[in-house]
Amino acid sequence: MILVTGATGFIGRSLMNRLQIAGYTARPFTGRITDTAAIREQLADIHTVIHLAGAEARGRHRLLQRVDVEGTRRLLDECRRAGVQHIIIPSRLGADPNASQMLLRVKGQVERLVRQSGIPYTILRTTTLYGRNDRFTEIILSLALWSWPFVWLPGGGKVPFQPLWVEDYTRCLVATLKRPDLQNKTISLGGEERLKYREIVVQILQAADIRRILLPLPMVLLRPLSTLLFRWWYWPPVTPYFVERFFVPDLAELDSVLHHFYFRPVRLPHNLAYLRRPGLRRRLFRRY
Ligand SMILES: NC(=O)c1ccc[n+]([C@@H]2O[C@H](COP(=O)([O-])OP(=O)(O)OC[C@H]3O[C@@H](n4cnc5c(N)ncnc54)[C@H](OP(=O)(O)O)[C@@H]3O)[C@@H](O)[C@H]2O)c1
Repeated sequence: MILVTGATGFIGRSLMNRLQIAGYTARPFTGRITDTAAIREQLADIHTVIHLAGAEARGRHRLLQRVDVEGTRRLLDECRRAGVQHIIIPSRLGADPNASQMLLRVKGQVERLVRQSGIPYTILRTTTLYGRNDRFTEIILSLALWSWPFVWLPGGGKVPFQPLWVEDYTRCLVATLKRPDLQNKTISLGGEERLKYREIVVQILQAADIRRILLPLPMVLLRPLSTLLFRWWYWPPVTPYFVERFFVPDLAELDSVLHHFYFRPVRLPHNLAYLRRPGLRRRLFRRY
């Protein structure tokens, strides 16, 4: 029996689907991850936990500390008590308790807790994931919708990204369940191509069938502008972590998925049809 925390999220929805297709019995965790009683109750009979609950999407540092660090600490304590045999968690490339970026620092703290827990673990670090309802391609699309008739390219759009399709990532998560050789390991995964931000924006505009004038934005202006935006707008279209990705390389080995999981991930330019789905533009406008 598998318990999945964060099963309703972007990765969680894809994972639950895949687990079902693969014939696994998976239970979604319900309640708050900081609620010890709820965790204890739901860990009965659980062999493996896939821990996806996290507050990254909210873009608030205090929540990250509470949900990601404190929530994981409580979950691990209860997993130890319940005799859980394997915990699998996602993380970010560059996760480090001493990183200068808050998100990477928090992810580093979470990884350290997991490694020190004494429970067999697998940490699957990844570059930015994309897919339906993501916080990458759909954010870029909403920025393009909001900034009509332009779309801004920080640093001229030269920063490289290596996005991985969420369905390929959850395929790796599911494969990990049958891979004892991956226990107590930290694996870094990424897509099979490095695309400059400008190339990704062009692909997204084409996929969504909209036209914009591409306008370079000097990198020195990116942090002050985003700080201003986050102060003024409580729920902005981008999180501070989206902006940080322009300053910290988010790159893995190009053959990382093939090397560890023996398949080739789908390439982004062939895979953006979800940006054309009816109602998406209206939803992106209404969200903010
Ligand atoms: N997306 C990426 O590109 C990416 C890359 C690397 C690592 N990750 C990590 O992978 C994890 C999942 O990412 P995601 O993109 O699927 O995030 P997401 O879409 O924001 O989903 C987060 C999930 O966590 C749950 N959650 C949040 N606060 C909770 C709390 N206090 N108690 C219980 N559940 C809570 C949410 O449920 P509610 O909505 O009900 O609160 C939701 O199901 C995160 O830790 C993220 O940092 C993501």
